[in-house]
Amino acid sequence: MPYAAFRSIGAYVPQKILTNEDLSKMVDTSDEWITKRTGIKERHIAAEDEFTSDLGVKAAQKAIERSGIALEDIDMVVCATISPDYFCMPSTATIISTKLGIKNVTAFDISAACTGFVYALAIAKAFIESGMKKNVLIVGAEKLSAITDYTDRGTCILFGDGAGAAIISATQDKEEAIIDVHTGADGEYADLLMTPNGGSGSVHDSLDTEARSCFMQMKGNETFKVAVRTLTKDVKDILQHNNIKSEDIKHFVPHQANYRIIKAVGDALKMTPEQVVLTVHKYGNTSGASIPMAINDLYESGELEAGEMMLLDAFGGGLTWGSALVPFAPLK
Ligand code: ACO
Repeated sequence: MPYAAFRSIGAYVPQKILTNEDLSKMVDTSDEWITKRTGIKERHIAAEDEFTSDLGVKAAQKAIERSGIALEDIDMVVCATISPDYFCMPSTATIISTKLGIKNVTAFDISAACTGFVYALAIAKAFIESGMKKNVLIVGAEKLSAITDYTDRGTCILFGDGAGAAIISATQDKEEAIIDVHTGADGEYADLLMTPNGGSGSVHDSLDTEARSCFMQMKGNETFKVAVRTLTKDVKDILQHNNIKSEDIKHFVPHQANYRIIKAVGDALKMTPEQVVLTVHKYGNTSGASIPMAINDLYESGELEAGEMMLLDAFGGGLTWGSALVPFAPLK
């Protein structure tokens, strides 16, 4: 049976930076409030003519180049996004494949909000282990600024744009294999975090709510509590299930939603500050892109070496959650 190996990582952030100071001129907030409640200092914002697929392509180009795998050997592209170029079709994954020049490919998007990259990892692993695919490009790409309400201080301070990508490949070497990926969801909490408009379930009360319902809405405080509770349990489960202890993890890479959530979960798992990867201060919450962007930061700073064990965990709209035990396995 083939195993799935995490071969390479790449990321891209758009040039424009939106600081807390900038936001305090747009809504009733302050750098102090945002920093204290979230840990975020700034986030990147894509240009008007720069789409989610463009961000994904730039991240993917780096991941492909670093993987040592030829473009023509990539046989599947999965894009995790809640801000696709087009809401119904075509999928952002098909646009990314075409812009990259990948032919004869299976390409599709998945919608699991901030857990999207972990879901994409689970899909890549399953396709590879079943023998159906050999080299899968997974992309987490978000232009969240396109679905953010910049009059709502409860959400607009949180989100940023960016993309991350990874190549997952078949291997016969069990030492290189992704150990496990857990994914979960519970639609009972759907109303905590949603974009009410744009689908077959849309109901409009007035023109004003109709316009605003295209944007993300969140019950932040309730989301926060469910996130800490669910993530702590999920991560404890995956470690226990695989007989791995917190100290065996070299890099704990949580979804970068809020410093306080990351700290609470890290503390519950007895992770040291050296183990916890933090990028939320400079990118904000980039949803499905946040985990691969954080792994890329680790890689580019020279801190991610072959064989080192990463523990990924994510939580997002749906609600959805997931975790993964992933050794970094570049081609030798
Ligand atoms: N600036 C100043 N005051 C604010 C702001 C702001 N930007 N936003 C809210 N407030 C006010 C509120 O109005 C409230 O005022 P009140 O007490 O007079 O009513 C007060 O601050 C406290 O509001 P809370 O919502 O209770 O603040 P909280 O401490 O919960 O922080 C936050 C809000 C940062 C949104 C937090 O709840 C959070 O991070 N939640 C989780 C987000 C998350 O993880 N989302 C999941 C992933 S996202 C995805 O899937 C796309």
